Amino acid sequence: MIPTVEWKDGAVRLLDQSRLPEHVEFIDCRDYQTVAAAIRELRVRGAPAIGVTAAMGVALGAQGIGTVDYDSFVKALGPICDHLAATRPTAVNLFWAIERMKQTLASLRGRSVMDVKRALIEESQRILDEDIAMNKAMGRHGAVLIQDGHTILTHCNAGALATAGYGTALGVIRAAWEQGKKIRVIADETRPVLQGARLTAWELMQDKIPVTLITDNMAGSLMRQGLIHLCVVGADRIAANGDVANKIGTYSVAVLAKAHHIPFYVAAPYSTIDLATPSGDHITIEQRRPEEITSIFNGPMIAPKGVTVFNPAFDVTPAELITAIITERGIFKPNELAKEFR
Ligand code: MRU
Repeated sequence: MIPTVEWKDGAVRLLDQSRLPEHVEFIDCRDYQTVAAAIRELRVRGAPAIGVTAAMGVALGAQGIGTVDYDSFVKALGPICDHLAATRPTAVNLFWAIERMKQTLASLRGRSVMDVKRALIEESQRILDEDIAMNKAMGRHGAVLIQDGHTILTHCNAGALATAGYGTALGVIRAAWEQGKKIRVIADETRPVLQGARLTAWELMQDKIPVTLITDNMAGSLMRQGLIHLCVVGADRIAANGDVANKIGTYSVAVLAKAHHIPFYVAAPYSTIDLATPSGDHITIEQRRPEEITSIFNGPMIAPKGVTVFNPAFDVTPAELITAIITERGIFKPNELAKEFR
């Protein structure tokens, strides 16, 4: 699988997901402003991938600071962190990764600025490596929930593309496939930005995992016909009570799953769990441009010019609709998470 994000020759190299599936192109970010713009414009997206990219953005910004004095260096890095943190509000991995970089910086007081700069690059690489390891652990735990012959519905893209590699929800599916289980994935196209159609379908086809694409409004009908055995999705933020913010439309899938007695699982690493947020009601939901809905990728208009649009990028699925949450430490009921990860 092509890396979503990597540190390469002193730059942050991103696979430009806004160009997939037609074009496989990379952006070499040579300053932190380009990294921030790439996050804002969804060139890199998915909560864990955003976190890793922001950490590398901090490391990149650090390289451009001219001073050799530690305190001046810390002062100069503050606005760089703030700039990266202001890109997207919902995925908590962004803030988690920036905070971890700040903590690393604080632990390096007394070392030369040259050493600090190198250590920040190394820390961002550790965040990336840990993300892949957590996804593989999640896959091992979650694969037991999938049986031979199962058809699994997923929403948005929670795959290798949304992480440093392997994926969260798609990691669970990938692990079951690697164990030799004959499975099939139903991918919701995921309006309006089509992460399911453009990214999940592409990613699974690359790995030859059978995938069928549907429009979002078909999921209920398939469930009613008994064609879905379970649902697995990712998360952008999990509140202390187990409520989950994820791509808009996730809540509808969870309601439909409940109505049809189909298990609904969320797969996410600890970097997505936000115990400081008591419930989903406190999660900031990103509002995006109307053009995402009124036109197809800035191309043909599919709604009248000037129409009023509401475009929240995420919704909240209440804990009571979630069968279990798959993490790198195992599988938990939503109300068990706070105790386990405190
Ligand atoms: O707007 P996006 O594409 O960043 O939204 C991505 C999602 O909602 C994913 O499901 C979530 O980040 C989990 S990714 C492992």
